[in-house]
Amino acid sequence: MMMLQNLDNPKNVKKIFIKTFGCQMNEYDSNRIYDTVKKIGYEKTDKYEDANCYLLNTCHIRDKAKEKVYHEIGRVKKIFRSKCKPLVIVAGCVAQAEHKEMLKREPYIDLVLGPQSYHKINDTILNHQNEKKKKEETEFDAIVKFDYLSKIKNQTKKISSFLTIQEGCDKFCHFCVVPYTRGPEYSRPFDQILEEAKHLVENGSREIILLGQNVNAYNFDGLRLSNLILELEKISSLKRIRYMTSHPNDMTEDLVNTYKKSKKLMPLVHLPVQSGSDKVLELMNRKHTIKKYLEIFNKLKKINPEIEFSSDFIIAYPGEDENDFKDTLKLIDEVKFVSSFSFIYSPRPGTVASKLPTMNSKKSLERLEVIQKKLFDNQIKVNKSFENKIINVLVENRMEDKSKLFGRSEYMTSVLFSGSDDLIGKIVQIKIQNSNQNTLFGKVVNQSNIKVA
Ligand code: SAH
Ligand code: SF4
Ligand code: F3S
Repeated sequence: MMMLQNLDNPKNVKKIFIKTFGCQMNEYDSNRIYDTVKKIGYEKTDKYEDANCYLLNTCHIRDKAKEKVYHEIGRVKKIFRSKCKPLVIVAGCVAQAEHKEMLKREPYIDLVLGPQSYHKINDTILNHQNEKKKKEETEFDAIVKFDYLSKIKNQTKKISSFLTIQEGCDKFCHFCVVPYTRGPEYSRPFDQILEEAKHLVENGSREIILLGQNVNAYNFDGLRLSNLILELEKISSLKRIRYMTSHPNDMTEDLVNTYKKSKKLMPLVHLPVQSGSDKVLELMNRKHTIKKYLEIFNKLKKINPEIEFSSDFIIAYPGEDENDFKDTLKLIDEVKFVSSFSFIYSPRPGTVASKLPTMNSKKSLERLEVIQKKLFDNQIKVNKSFENKIINVLVENRMEDKSKLFGRSEYMTSVLFSGSDDLIGKIVQIKIQNSNQNTLFGKVVNQSNIKVA
């Protein structure tokens, strides 16, 4: 049979295209996969047509996650209809959850890799090239994964970089697939993280966002997230430290007190609460109360009144009645979250809540709209309150259309302003002139007055 030639990639250089769905941890993983496959000669491409390896890094958290994957693979099939078929790999949380059925249902998929098996990717690709056998690798092997990845340098060259320090979850909230797709809680060795952080900073990172499904559950031989933050703080060129996502029950005294000691830890705490009703929290198996949540809030506000909170909410969880919903609205009024995500509850296969009857979808949508309006109104108000004020912005890059520089405030809000490229990587003072729900617009106050945090 005549081999089809990929005319977009005439020399047939090995090129990989990765499409990433889901959370920041998937983004981190995709970057690390790039770093890994480089070792077997793959180059990164941003164009589907160029690729001879296509990897889809999937998310299973909500909605029709599985269907989205097959839909996307269908798209790839179409793109490559008259070209040489790329090697198709499905990775991530849907791969973990659906691995048994995937290769059967969609023969276009060649390899399936669970999130704890990325260290096996090169061998899996090479074996496939030799043996042409379909394969799935979905064991939970976090120790081996990070041991392997630590030997391959993180090549990220961004001003703000993600660094996964913890993976998996033992909490089993009744709505959530993460404990099934990412496996048990695992904390990476302390020194391994420090080394990776130093390397990122040497490569230009000025902000590190520490990641974990339960990042504040980090515990390596008794060393906690607080120890890590205070150690990272010593890297002089690192300007900002953030972490996500946290669970209220792991917001221990030492971490709370880090806000007194640290100069680089940003004053935005992303602490998902999910609901403002204790009854719903119990039904969700969250294992914390609103009282406990507010205690954390008040403690942190006492340490620094400028600390603000952001959160995640699940609306219309089975059993949520009108009063429970009102309790959530009340909590929003009390905490005044500066930014948040809110989602209608989506039953996930294999979870405890998946067996419960769901709420009428019209009612769910109504509640979502009410809550989002409240959250967005507050966000607009908060952003407006920055107008005419001078704030510190870490400059990350130039916008794609080249017109403005892009940076972020201490609260993660996007800030746009004019300026020269040499400001990239620096913390500059910006006077905010205008704002909308998601963005602040301003001008550089005084370029010679660059503040070093
Ligand atoms: N570990 C974090 C959350 C990780 S999942 C925590 O404990 O809060 C990210 C967010 O997705 C959750 O905070 C939740 O709001 C949302 N989510 C998870 N499962 C969901 C489901 N079945 N339906 C709707 N939203 C869900
Ligand atoms: Fe999911 Fe977070 Fe609950 Fe773990 S703590 S089960 S990741 S929502
Ligand atoms: Fe999605 Fe898995 Fe992250 S389910 S949110 S990609 S941990």
